[in-house]
Amino acid sequence: MATEPAARSVPALRRERQTALYRRALETLPGGTDSNFRAWGDDTIYVDRGKGGRVWDIDGNEFIDLRMGYGPVILGHGDERVDDYVNERMRRGVSFSLTTEDEVRAMELVRELTGWVDKARMTVSGTEATMHAMRIARAYTGREKIVKFEGQYHGVHDYALISVSPNDISELGDADNPVRLAWGRGIPGAVADTIIPARYNNIDFLRRLFEREGDQIAAIIVEPVLGNAQAIMPKPGFHQAMRALTEEFGILLIFDEVKTGFRLARGGAAEFFGIKPDLATWAKAMGNGYPAAAFGGREAVMSMLPDKVSHGGTYAGNRIAAAAAVKTLEILRDTDALETIHAIGRRMQDGLREILNPTGLPYVFTGHPSMFGIMFTDTEPSEYRDWANTDHELYDAIAVGMHARGAMPEPDSREPWFICEAHAEGDIVDQVLTIFNDSLDAALEARAHGRLAPMGSGAMSHPTAG
Ligand SMILES: Cc1ncc(COP(=O)(O)O)c(C=O)c1O
Repeated sequence: MATEPAARSVPALRRERQTALYRRALETLPGGTDSNFRAWGDDTIYVDRGKGGRVWDIDGNEFIDLRMGYGPVILGHGDERVDDYVNERMRRGVSFSLTTEDEVRAMELVRELTGWVDKARMTVSGTEATMHAMRIARAYTGREKIVKFEGQYHGVHDYALISVSPNDISELGDADNPVRLAWGRGIPGAVADTIIPARYNNIDFLRRLFEREGDQIAAIIVEPVLGNAQAIMPKPGFHQAMRALTEEFGILLIFDEVKTGFRLARGGAAEFFGIKPDLATWAKAMGNGYPAAAFGGREAVMSMLPDKVSHGGTYAGNRIAAAAAVKTLEILRDTDALETIHAIGRRMQDGLREILNPTGLPYVFTGHPSMFGIMFTDTEPSEYRDWANTDHELYDAIAVGMHARGAMPEPDSREPWFICEAHAEGDIVDQVLTIFNDSLDAALEARAHGRLAPMGSGAMSHPTAG
């Protein structure tokens, strides 16, 4: 830990407008917001604006943004290169339910950057992309079941909301025989029964499963890194083994690259891990925050469209999303933005190591420098169940402390820090390190005095997600 005094005073955040808007919003929006994942009770944040790597809330409090909208804003908020291009294109009209050249260009760029994709189509959200990829897999194989990993998040359609991220790990059932845990009410049992939960990084589990019921399984969908649990990485060879196993059993492999796409590498996690899946989904980084998303894959599988599988959407490929994708992907292709992002992430991790090592606290970095987490544990986590054995109470206290000091990581120990190109500006990295250091000191001091607030105590606790 650095030598700064722990008791550096923390100016209170201004909250007058937040409090008033929260009360007003509660009258109309359930939870005061448009997503359960932003409904943080009294601490629900109302944002005014963002620029580069910073955001300002409606009371004018300024934060270094380490959430970046759960990942999409890869270049920075209000990036003028993207915004100017979108502005110029949108003046030609935004929605025709006809096809523009922007859409063709955007999907050509997806092909070019991934290198393995033959055909792709746009959607508006990652949710739609994973839903369609699953449907295409079922249509192509003539099988109905989909394997998904515990702890992985693929959006909010019924097929995705199984065994996602319970706080109480025991709800996932026995480790050898996990249960299909529906997230919330309203998910038909018949739909849930088509999803088989599996354990990430556990190839033996998959082999046993495939041997038992492989002839009913259409596909396995995987977040190549476990983005919903601090971006836990695959064990060396896991993806290769899974690719071989899926081929052996005629099961399709869907890479859900909504978080990793165009971030881990220009060709996403598929390039990073050297895997050719059959289908993939993208969103987030492909549009720098505009609602651009897509699914795509190899020719034979995608040939289910347009005749054999339903896919459509009034806003699919709308001008704003398509133009944003074109410009963002061109920037990622033609500049060293990704190299910058990876270097900032490594610098931040180096600085965090210098702060953490002298404390003797057990910790591991999870993820890739462009989206990484810090887990307080002395064992390398390999699946969602391992999150329960980390000291997330300490992490949460640090995150809440960072918020009070002007940096905003997600205040939930399951969501990684997202790095954007604009974090290279000024002394953002040094500021984050100072803020982390002070917040760690304060959290340890609170623990020493038995004052460490547990999650759910009215701090900024809320469920995790995308
Ligand atoms: C891996 C993954 N897949 C799918 C989704 C769903 O995307 P969207 O929120 O755009 O529907 C998310 C969102 O966080 C995600 O992280």
